[in-house]
Amino acid sequence: MSRSKVSVLALLCGALIIAYWQFWPKAIPGWTAEEVEVLRSLSLSSLQDLPPNPSNAVADNPLAAEFGSRLFFDTRLSANNGISCATCHQPIRRFTDGLQKGQAIGTTDRNTPSIVGVAYSPWQFWDGRRDSLWSQALAPIEDAREHAFNREQVRSLVTDDAQYREYYESLFGRLPEPGRADAHSTNVVFANIGKAIEAFERTIMPGESRFDRYVAALVNGDVERQEELFSDDEVRGLRLFISDANCTQCHNGPLLTNHEFHNTGVISFPGDIPDKGRVAGVREVMLDEFNCKGEYSDDDKRSCDELEFARTDATLIGAFKTPSLRNLENTAPFMHKGQFATLADVLENYNVAADAMIGHNEAKPLGFSQRQLDQLEAFLRTLAAPVQMMATREGQGD
Ligand code: HEC
Ligand code: HEC
Repeated sequence: MSRSKVSVLALLCGALIIAYWQFWPKAIPGWTAEEVEVLRSLSLSSLQDLPPNPSNAVADNPLAAEFGSRLFFDTRLSANNGISCATCHQPIRRFTDGLQKGQAIGTTDRNTPSIVGVAYSPWQFWDGRRDSLWSQALAPIEDAREHAFNREQVRSLVTDDAQYREYYESLFGRLPEPGRADAHSTNVVFANIGKAIEAFERTIMPGESRFDRYVAALVNGDVERQEELFSDDEVRGLRLFISDANCTQCHNGPLLTNHEFHNTGVISFPGDIPDKGRVAGVREVMLDEFNCKGEYSDDDKRSCDELEFARTDATLIGAFKTPSLRNLENTAPFMHKGQFATLADVLENYNVAADAMIGHNEAKPLGFSQRQLDQLEAFLRTLAAPVQMMATREGQGD
């Protein structure tokens, strides 16, 4: 072959390679074994059984869950007979309310979080100022902006309603005689009401999402099913989520939360004083009379490791509880004050990661293109799933 023929051939080959590189659809690289392990750890199939709560003797009692569900939806538990837990935690909105800040008799300081799967969290509220679901439930009942009720009125309601009295006495023993209740016995009734509500809340869990089905197909090596379940953009978004965007630093495990507190630099609304978050919440939970160490806990051993070893350092200034990402459907607006109306707004905040108003923003700027942000959002939407009401552990196998 002459030299000129060789160079023409080389040129042709080069042009072909470039054309292929430019115009051929790019194959998505497959997942490595390590990546599959990470994905598996995020899947609902990795969710352990709900650990018992020794501070609540009826936590997994089916009758308590039934009583708790009545209480959760009962508007008589309020000063104006019009507010229940479900006023703000609406089942059709995955137990949120669609508002920036929770509203009942007044307006609260923060956004109403979903309570789906929240029984797994050792801390309750955005700032973790309660250490159990039962002690948490007592707070809105007495908050002047929420139910504006009080513990004496709760005791009277349960005493006067024949059905409630029956539930109560079969679960917790005799109610104090009307007129003979003192502060302590009233507190016992109040705490028990919280414990019944917790038993109900422990049954509210996320169902299986498209993401979970994708991981199952991946683990089974079923390529066809994977392609049916996830678009290319969703696959790319998922890869960004666990790699370049490093979202799994905080949103990890099958509920996509580490149950910890972090500052992500979300600024308050104009006119709002910057919210100190966890640094104030941790002080409050230590002083709560209904905390794990208090006299109303059912745990004789008072094993309260979470409370005992709770971090109190300065990194908690402006830090909030990492929310689960399994509750993004129907739960806008997002973040602790409902600062962001859409997921795109949330992602834009991570993309820029500006300095925090107070404390230090732990999230690093992503600097992603619009395309990448859209892919990340497409992946987040695959986590949507229906709410699943579980049987209590004691109720299983009946
Ligand atoms: C006025 C609306 C409103 C009512 C009524 C209300 N909540 Fe909430 N709930 C909120 C808001 C707002 C927050 C977050 C407040 C904060 O973190 O400071 C919250 C937080 C919670 C949390 C913590 C979730 C988490 O992830 O930390 C639980 C659990 C909860 N509420 C259950 C209840 C129960 C049970 C009742 C009824 C006894 C109730 N709520 C009544 C608005 C409401
Ligand atoms: C340093 C820990 C951390 C990292 C990293 C992080 N998040 Fe978050 N995320 C949080 C915390 C904490 C909140 C609540 C912040 C607040 O309300 O002020 C949150 C809130 C959210 C919300 C709003 C959820 C709701 O119900 O309001 C979404 C969506 C979200 N994060 C997605 C992501 C994505 C996607 C990434 C990766 C780009 C990411 N997060 C990285 C800790 C983190």
